[in-house]
Amino acid sequence: MMNEAIPHLTDYSDATLDHAFATLEAEVRESAAAAAGDVEGFRLHWLGRKQGRLKLVSEVWLKLAPADARRALGMRFNQLKQGIEAVLEAPAAQSGPKLAALDVTLPGIARVAGIAHPLVTTMQRVVEVFHQLGYSTALGPEVETDFHNFEALNFPPNHPARDTQDTLQVAAQGAKAERDRLLMRTHTSPVQIRTMLEQAPPLRIVIPGKVHRNDAADATHSPIFHQVEGLCVGPDITFSDLKGTLDHAMRSLFGAGVTTRFFPSFFPFTEPSADVQISCIFCSGNGCRKCKYSGWIELLGCGMVDPAVFAAVTAERRRLGLDDTLYDPARVSGFAFGMGVERIAMILHGVSDIGLFYSGDVRFLEQFA
Ligand code: PHE
Repeated sequence: MMNEAIPHLTDYSDATLDHAFATLEAEVRESAAAAAGDVEGFRLHWLGRKQGRLKLVSEVWLKLAPADARRALGMRFNQLKQGIEAVLEAPAAQSGPKLAALDVTLPGIARVAGIAHPLVTTMQRVVEVFHQLGYSTALGPEVETDFHNFEALNFPPNHPARDTQDTLQVAAQGAKAERDRLLMRTHTSPVQIRTMLEQAPPLRIVIPGKVHRNDAADATHSPIFHQVEGLCVGPDITFSDLKGTLDHAMRSLFGAGVTTRFFPSFFPFTEPSADVQISCIFCSGNGCRKCKYSGWIELLGCGMVDPAVFAAVTAERRRLGLDDTLYDPARVSGFAFGMGVERIAMILHGVSDIGLFYSGDVRFLEQFA
């Protein structure tokens, strides 16, 4: 690097200063290029304490300048210094391994394409089975009113049946009428009510969705989980229709060899109610660890729509000024069913811990790609 003497300034006009500093800035750029990675050499050349160029500039220009020119000089001097420091801080000047020539034959960075979550695919599979039977999808909100989640479904206020669905209440609802109080829906059944308030029978809907219960998480429980619900309403729907529909749906989902059986059960909004079991898909009903040696796996709840539900829908339609004859319990009947998506996904894929579905662990999820 050349070390030319700093020329004396002839005057302190802006033009002279501009020219003098521009010359030095050009010199900084040239010497940065010439240093070719010798960062320390460049630093000493410009900022060296005894012989650095900047020190000379300061001695020859700054110190000799009359008081009224110092300010303009000082500002330019600082700019020059910042320019030098910027060269030193630039990434190319940082020490560390130098990039060799670009090797275009190195493998690129592969980005793994995303896939649908196994719970989503399971939900879609169930929904698809019912679409084939002429059902359409209905959706509803996760934050529900007490009316839709409970009252219209024949869970009266304070009725002990509510205890079966540990409910997460939305805070500060006390000032509202009981029926308007908000909660996290505990099942997808409120969408039955919402749909009957919006559509005329006959009705065939399938309702996938997320539900919430104040359950402690363990290997088979999660406070947030998913259900697929179904509702069929018409002038002459019978329990045989329910049995035939679910029998077909279970065969479509789990294989043609699967048989179903119905056990008496209870839900406030269906009468009669039943729990449905399928023959164990792992041992064909012979008994194994998966079915606890019973040969059967319990999968869903169902039943004939309780006339009290049609009565509640009819009363609400009247209150809203809608046609209150459509769901007259004397004129329509129907069935409903509901199943847990996680449970089906666990059975289909042999997953033993429900928490894996929510962990976001790619090692688990990529198995479903
Ligand atoms: N909603 C019920 C539950 O979550 C399931 C169900 C739906 C039962 C429809 C019967 C009919 O437990």
